[in-house]
Amino acid sequence: MQTLTPVPARVVNLHDHAIEAKKVLSDSAWAYFFGGAADEVTLNANGSAWQALSLLPRVLTPLQGGHTRCQLLGRSMPHPILLAPVAYQRLAHPDGELATAVAAAAQGAGLVLSTQSSTLLEEVSQAFGPSRTVTHACEQPQGPLWFQLYWQPQQHITEQLVARAEAAGFEALVLTVDAPVHGARDRERRAQFTLPDGIRAVNLPAVSDMGCPVNDIHRVLHHAPTWVQVRQLVAGTRLPVLLKGILHPDDARAALDCGVAGVIVSNHGGRTLDTVTPTAAALPAVAQAVGDQMAVLVDGGLRRGTDVFKALALGAHAVLIGRPVVHALAHAGAMGVSHAIRLLRDELEIAMALCGCATLDQIGRGHLMPTRDDWFTAQARSRTPA
Ligand code: FNR
Ligand code: LAC
Repeated sequence: MQTLTPVPARVVNLHDHAIEAKKVLSDSAWAYFFGGAADEVTLNANGSAWQALSLLPRVLTPLQGGHTRCQLLGRSMPHPILLAPVAYQRLAHPDGELATAVAAAAQGAGLVLSTQSSTLLEEVSQAFGPSRTVTHACEQPQGPLWFQLYWQPQQHITEQLVARAEAAGFEALVLTVDAPVHGARDRERRAQFTLPDGIRAVNLPAVSDMGCPVNDIHRVLHHAPTWVQVRQLVAGTRLPVLLKGILHPDDARAALDCGVAGVIVSNHGGRTLDTVTPTAAALPAVAQAVGDQMAVLVDGGLRRGTDVFKALALGAHAVLIGRPVVHALAHAGAMGVSHAIRLLRDELEIAMALCGCATLDQIGRGHLMPTRDDWFTAQARSRTPA
């Protein structure tokens, strides 16, 4: 790893990390890391939807002994923040995924490594360190290490990835289901984004070895996973499987039927299908459908501790952040990522205290102002004959 870069004192929130990243990234790398699909309606709506929810604090509640510890897939975590899978991190900083792993481990954050990582998954696992859960109050706890899976056109390559992730100590597999094809990325195309020499998805065979062009849409769709492959994956691994990119409650129920351990309510950060619902709007129905039977996580536009608080109030058990990680990585390497995670966790703790919650399980729907939809639902219920 390179020498550690201090984070400038002017950086006090995740938006500031984005400002610093834009200064150091090339226009084309910025277009890749920051951009969304088409008109970027969903990209923008993701953030605004969290902001539009109003908090409704409770006061004078006892806050002694407060903490952010939580449980996810049967293990404890120091706080509910994970780093979302983001491809090609060596394009943001030479230390790439290794810096992100070191920072996540230092801050007790979970890490989901992309199939399209630019660093070998075995090296990332080693940098993250052995799995540690809190068994004793004085131990430094760690978040979980998960592997994000893109189903590959050749089945044996998928099987090899799963076997390698299992052998390297990853604790769960996250199958991404919302991106069978690349979205219409206008910003990327305008910036003529291409990967520079030396940066590629090193855990996959080189494109020349795959025997097909990667953007051959008919071939890609022919091999896109369905519920059949989900069942196959669940049956073929000893690791819990989560699905990333669920927005509809019926898909969450179908996932449960397949033996999936959790869902991530996600629209891929607005990078796949534009004008898809913001995740804050999709989360409540998914959480209501399956939240008491499987893990429900959410990502997309979370930039503030108050956003994390609101996600938990709407029924998420944990959250993931994507772009803020590469922004922080780009201008300040491991120190930047560590700083960004700490900022978000500190802001969550402030939001909890100011809303009258000592622990995460005290956060509930009652801490949000009812929306117009809640009002209409209540009216409709009161009119329904018993
Ligand atoms: C992503 N995302 C993503 N998701 C995934 O499952 N596999 C991947 O390889 C990637 N790669 C990737 C690259 C870049 C540059 C971005 C910005 C995003 C999506 C990511 O995991 C997550 O769903 C979103 O980034 C969450 O939204 P925010 O936090 O970026 O707003
Ligand atoms: C992306 C792919 C790698 O969003 O998931 O760029």
